[in-house]
Amino acid sequence: MPRGVFITLEGLDGSGKTTQIKRLAAWLTRRGQEPVVLRQPGGTPTSDRIREILLDSRSAPLHPMTEAALMFAARAQAIAEIIRPALDAGKIVVCDRFTDSTEAYQGGGRQLGSAAILDLHRLICGGLQPDITLLLLPGFEASLARARHRNLRVEAETGRNENRFEVEQDAFYRRVWEKYREIAAREPDRVVLIEGDLSIDEVHEQIVEAVAERLLAKV
Ligand code: TMP
Repeated sequence: MPRGVFITLEGLDGSGKTTQIKRLAAWLTRRGQEPVVLRQPGGTPTSDRIREILLDSRSAPLHPMTEAALMFAARAQAIAEIIRPALDAGKIVVCDRFTDSTEAYQGGGRQLGSAAILDLHRLICGGLQPDITLLLLPGFEASLARARHRNLRVEAETGRNENRFEVEQDAFYRRVWEKYREIAAREPDRVVLIEGDLSIDEVHEQIVEAVAERLLAKV
């Protein structure tokens, strides 16, 4: 059985990933290729518990290395339980964030640097790489305003606290943003950069175009 296809979506908080993943999954399903969809940190019961620790603002202060290690712990479990088995079975996996997020947020935002994160990736994820990564970078201010507003609303409605990252200062997010752009420039064959303030439909069109163009032979 040929290996399946591994698609990841990346971007700043509030970049519209969740909406786009739903649309991409629906598009793939219409083509008869229902994907396995998961998010990180998360995806398995244990990974979801690690997510709670990571995103709850009551976990502060969390040392940057602890944060990176927990991100990889959640990822290792998701790879073992979900991603590897699905790819081995020839399925399409759509993952909301992967190691690029750790490189951008912990490597860039928390200033651990890329080398440490990429070393951890090789060790813990066996170097598993997405076939294609769709990097959504709409306007910086608009993304952040959307993310902060959404998380306050979710907390008011559900009591779930996922605010720990959104209370970071703009300088932190600037570093995340710059690291994402650095990754895109370093790996143009894998990373498709979709930037600017485009409509939901326009972003969706660019995503399916890129997926169809690069993966049509495999999908
Ligand atoms: P989400 O809201 O897109 O699910 O992402 C959760 C938060 O976790 C988001 O602020 C980005 C952050 N994050 C990291 O800092 N490092 C990582 O490796 C991942 C996967 C997420």
